[in-house]
Amino acid sequence: MGRVGLAVAMGCAAATCSIAAVLVGRRVKSWRRWGRAVGVLREFEEGCATPIGRLRQVVDAMVVEMHAGLASDGGSKLKMLLTFVDRLPDGKEEGIYYAIDLGGANVRVLRVQLGGKRSMILGHEGESNPVPRNLLTNSTVELFDLVAMTLKHFVEKDENGHKLVVEKTKELGFTFSFPVKQKSVSSGVLIKWTKGLFIEDTVGRDVTQCLEEALARRGLNMRVTVLVNDTVGALALGHYYDKDTVAAVIIGAGTNACYVERTDAIIKCQGLLTNSGGMVINMEWGNFWSSHLPRTPYDIALDDESQNRNEQGFEKLISGMYLGDVARRVLYKMALESDVFGDAIGGLSTPFALSTPMMAAMHEDESPDLREVARILEETMQVLVPLKTRKLVVRVCDIVTRRAARLAAAGIVGILKKMGRDGSGGAPTGRTKSKTRRSVVAVEGGLYAGYTLFREYLNEAIREILGEQVSRNVVLRITEDGSGQRLNRDSCRQSQTVRIVAGLETFSNIDCAFVLQVIFLYY
Ligand code: BGC
Repeated sequence: MGRVGLAVAMGCAAATCSIAAVLVGRRVKSWRRWGRAVGVLREFEEGCATPIGRLRQVVDAMVVEMHAGLASDGGSKLKMLLTFVDRLPDGKEEGIYYAIDLGGANVRVLRVQLGGKRSMILGHEGESNPVPRNLLTNSTVELFDLVAMTLKHFVEKDENGHKLVVEKTKELGFTFSFPVKQKSVSSGVLIKWTKGLFIEDTVGRDVTQCLEEALARRGLNMRVTVLVNDTVGALALGHYYDKDTVAAVIIGAGTNACYVERTDAIIKCQGLLTNSGGMVINMEWGNFWSSHLPRTPYDIALDDESQNRNEQGFEKLISGMYLGDVARRVLYKMALESDVFGDAIGGLSTPFALSTPMMAAMHEDESPDLREVARILEETMQVLVPLKTRKLVVRVCDIVTRRAARLAAAGIVGILKKMGRDGSGGAPTGRTKSKTRRSVVAVEGGLYAGYTLFREYLNEAIREILGEQVSRNVVLRITEDGSGQRLNRDSCRQSQTVRIVAGLETFSNIDCAFVLQVIFLYY
């Protein structure tokens, strides 16, 4: 090789080396960026960890707070509200009843015919209408007028759609799924709004009165005979079908639980007498807080930016209103720290752009190329991502959901423990053996009923905390939707047939839990 040839060869080698160096450099940079995205994921995963030890701490904290909330008003973030419901339906009720449900973005009305003698529900029909967004924050009068109008249209039509003249005063059950300090079984004052409703002038007012005034304005001859929280409706439905039902939990857009407490344990209301010696307590557990709850910077930011800062802490970790947004916040951070979402941040920066049903759909995408994940990210976030990134997205959804489900499980075990039904031997009455008692918990809401992975994580955690033997006596039964917050309609339809899901029974036949609250009209 002559000099020229040598020079050319050396030149080529140098060029090849520099191209290779550029490529290697790019690859290294890309690895680093990928590494940063994975780092965000790892850090989030650590922050969300719910090992068994931590779950047990949450169980105990729940029990402590329950005691504190029963001891005095304001004694705990758990309000432990009296419901004045001291008897649960047993299937002997009969007649036609009307009910109305206001629990969030929908208002629902219902007429139900009960057959008595355990012939159960003979028939029911209902209507559900969305509450226009502006009414969620406008004024009390506008919101309750909408409720009254919806009811008026419904009541004035008979089962065949003919118009009726309503002469006699009709009695009405009112399911109102917000924290209310009840004065009686049919009246109560709104403590605060949750789940995106914020109408200042309703706080501190009697919601029964607000509804009755609206009914009168619309010329409707109806009187609210019973006012209940949706959890109480779910408990009633559970008890209607299964007398071992001792508690109810809602995990939908919002979350809450109620259970039957002995009146002598309700210290803040000494001298309270009921025929049964017990009363249903609306825990308002969405507001539960404990330093043992795993909270990440994403949760703190979500809370800081929310309309109800420092409120509903448990709800913000486990309910459908918030889970999608926690996941979105993590994905946004990944997009900022790395290039895994390409150059376009798209909708990732928009609060609540990723709803929980979408998050659930991505999480449960079983296609090999994660097609559903790609579709949702493209349609809702306007981001196109490779398969590798889609897998990362699914991991984020999994972490958010697993933490939520396990914390909800710890909450449920907390209630069972307070009732002496967790197998630890602390039966409060001493009359029955806690070890052998069957305890049914009615569970309602889209997250549990319509999101298989959530349900599986929750059930698994219950077994983990209680152990195989005790958990055999604990039955979680899905009640039908009482709050209108199902994840999707298909899951609602599906749940109308009795299913056995991982050893869990479901209630059957009707698609509205809140029908059962009307049975309290018998009081
Ligand atoms: C409300 C509860 C309600 C729960 C489920 C929460 O945001 O505070 O009253 O039971 O949502 O609907």
